[in-house]
Amino acid sequence: MSYGSLAGFWLPRQASTTAGSVDFVFNAVTWIGITFFVLITAMLAVFLWKYRARPGHAAQPSPDHNQRLEVTWTVIPVLIVVWIFWEGFEGFLDLATPPKNAYEVQVLGQKWKWLFTYPNGVVDENLHVPPGEPVRLVMTSQDVIHSLYVPEFRIKRDAVPGRYEKQWFQAPEAGEHQIFCAEYCGTSHSAMLAKVIVHRSRPEFERWLADAGNFIDKLPPEKLWEGGEKLYNQRGCKQCHSIDGTSGIGPTFKGIWGHAQPLRGGGSATVDENYVRESIVDPQAKIVAGYEPVMPTFQGRLKDKEITALIEYLKKLD
Ligand code: CUA
Repeated sequence: MSYGSLAGFWLPRQASTTAGSVDFVFNAVTWIGITFFVLITAMLAVFLWKYRARPGHAAQPSPDHNQRLEVTWTVIPVLIVVWIFWEGFEGFLDLATPPKNAYEVQVLGQKWKWLFTYPNGVVDENLHVPPGEPVRLVMTSQDVIHSLYVPEFRIKRDAVPGRYEKQWFQAPEAGEHQIFCAEYCGTSHSAMLAKVIVHRSRPEFERWLADAGNFIDKLPPEKLWEGGEKLYNQRGCKQCHSIDGTSGIGPTFKGIWGHAQPLRGGGSATVDENYVRESIVDPQAKIVAGYEPVMPTFQGRLKDKEITALIEYLKKLD
């Protein structure tokens, strides 16, 4: 069975090493179901016709029982069910046990995006992986239950707050695959999308990882705001703070730089470097009037240089 085969009528294309075995069991169960449905419905129709009430035919007493028939229609289904269990259990064990040498990526689900953290600390909103190697996802959630689902890999598992769930896959060929959230998690559940990007080779993947790792450091000072824009989009600022003046879960970023913001409980604060920094590392310190204190801290999650880049970006939005 070829991994890159095109989507069939029922199922998307198979793009992982385990997709074939999942589809095999799925198809077997489906066709066994269809076979028995047709068989039983046909026999029902035949008997209905053959033994219908009509003049000259009196009802016959039912035979007591037929041992041979009953044993047959018990043993055959039992064997089929045991076989389905065996195939399913084997596949389940395989999918539940990541190989020891797997490449590990941390996954964080949050309302409403996925974040993938690589061993060198790079955080990206897409899942980049090398081809032909097992990849282990260690998943958790920041808020509610999400579920990371890659149909073309035939893998899906919940990301649950307060615990770690694991799943793994191996993608033999370079390409892009859609990631969905498969657990209804609120307003933008259907927009909680990301891509798996399977690179062409291990060295190409390593190059991408190294570039992503020092992206901010490589920007000249006058371009630092571009790094801030990228962080704004990637690290979850966007989900609550608009840049077009509309008010979201948090205040908009448009036109606030250098202006005083009224605070909850009275008083005001001017949006400058120190205010922005404080709002990122200690979001509960000053809450803008009219908003709830719901922002999580980014202390330890954003480097100083990244905070500076975000500050530069905010200045641009004035
Ligand atoms: Cu996250 Cu649905």
